Amino acid sequence: MRYVVTHPRRVRGEAIHQTSHERRVSSASRAEERAESDQEVMVRVRAPMGPERLEASGEESRRKVERAYLMPEVKHFVETQEVKDTEDRMKLWLQAGYPVHLIGPTGCGKTSLATHVAQQLGRPVVWINGDESITTTDLIGGYSQMENETVRDKYIHNVFKSKDITKVEWVDNPLSLACKYGYTLIYNEFSRTKPAANNILLSVFEEGILELPTKFGEERYVKVHPEFKAILTSNSIEYAGIHRPQDALLDRLVGIYADYYSFETEAMITARHTGVTEDQARRIVSVVRSIRDKLPDAQKPGTRACIMIAKGLKTLNGHKNIDFQQLCMDVIATKTSSPRDMEEKKVLVLGAVSEYS
Ligand SMILES: Nc1ncnc2c1ncn2[C@@H]1O[C@H](COP(=O)(O)OP(=O)(O)OP(=O)(O)O)[C@@H](O)[C@H]1O
Ligand SMILES: [Mg+2]
Repeated sequence: MRYVVTHPRRVRGEAIHQTSHERRVSSASRAEERAESDQEVMVRVRAPMGPERLEASGEESRRKVERAYLMPEVKHFVETQEVKDTEDRMKLWLQAGYPVHLIGPTGCGKTSLATHVAQQLGRPVVWINGDESITTTDLIGGYSQMENETVRDKYIHNVFKSKDITKVEWVDNPLSLACKYGYTLIYNEFSRTKPAANNILLSVFEEGILELPTKFGEERYVKVHPEFKAILTSNSIEYAGIHRPQDALLDRLVGIYADYYSFETEAMITARHTGVTEDQARRIVSVVRSIRDKLPDAQKPGTRACIMIAKGLKTLNGHKNIDFQQLCMDVIATKTSSPRDMEEKKVLVLGAVSEYS
């Protein structure tokens, strides 16, 4: 039988059997190994703490956040004169140094417009969606990526060496990124966030200072970059879960009311998104607008409903038992609260479909 040495083996008292020369050689090589193992520990400790590593990880985490908060792509954007007019007003106020607040009913095109204008400004765009659970930390960032590393070195049986290392890294979230580097911030549906979490915006918009409450000393205050711009959107129709933004915040924003687009623009959007013919798009938009006029604010179908019906129509081939009327009914029924409500909507849809047949 042959033993293959896979790792150096130490035997207690082995030195007794060695010559003085062998002892010198083995203690020298042991000292060398110990130095190597120490070095290994040191490298593992020092490397993450060095300024270069911090810088690299800062850059890395910035990219990570940018990727995570990447704004949605605007596809098939339609730019009629009325869309351009609103865009121009938004750009004017942004250039004048004010954040723009786009207000409008559900599905009228606020998010698409905000995204399109932000892209046109030519600066990187960061994006956040307001909701009940958003906190100030979600906006500014915080100490995260806590990593605990424990090194237990028992290389020599009777020497126990132990090191606990805690690495903490500050990670910027969209608001800090935008303020520090002059990006455009889109804060979609910001009124869904609890007002207390949005308080951080007050000094950003008024004094041009971002205060990072969990930092200390000089790092606590960030001067807002001159290229920083913000577009906020909110729904004009009250619904459950919305928080009324504090007056002080609204006071610092320029409000642009974006209503549903005109018939022509809606028809163009519907056709461009779905590939239905112009006539089909016009019929769909006529039906939707007729129903919109008759329903209460909270139930009005927006441009999204036109696109949905048109997509349904494009997919209709082969479903002979489903007709245009049924498609409209299904899309309009989304906000139905009771069978009676559904019956009333059926009547509305029937009337509108036969009017624009
Ligand atoms: N100018 C436009 N060009 C092309 N498509 C548009 C345009 N405006 C709106 N749309 C389309 O209309 C639909 C609704 O638009 P959008 O999501 O921007 O509305 P919204 O007001 O943000 O809606 P919500 O209140 O539900 O958030 C989307 O499918 C969008 O792609
Ligand atoms: Mg939206």
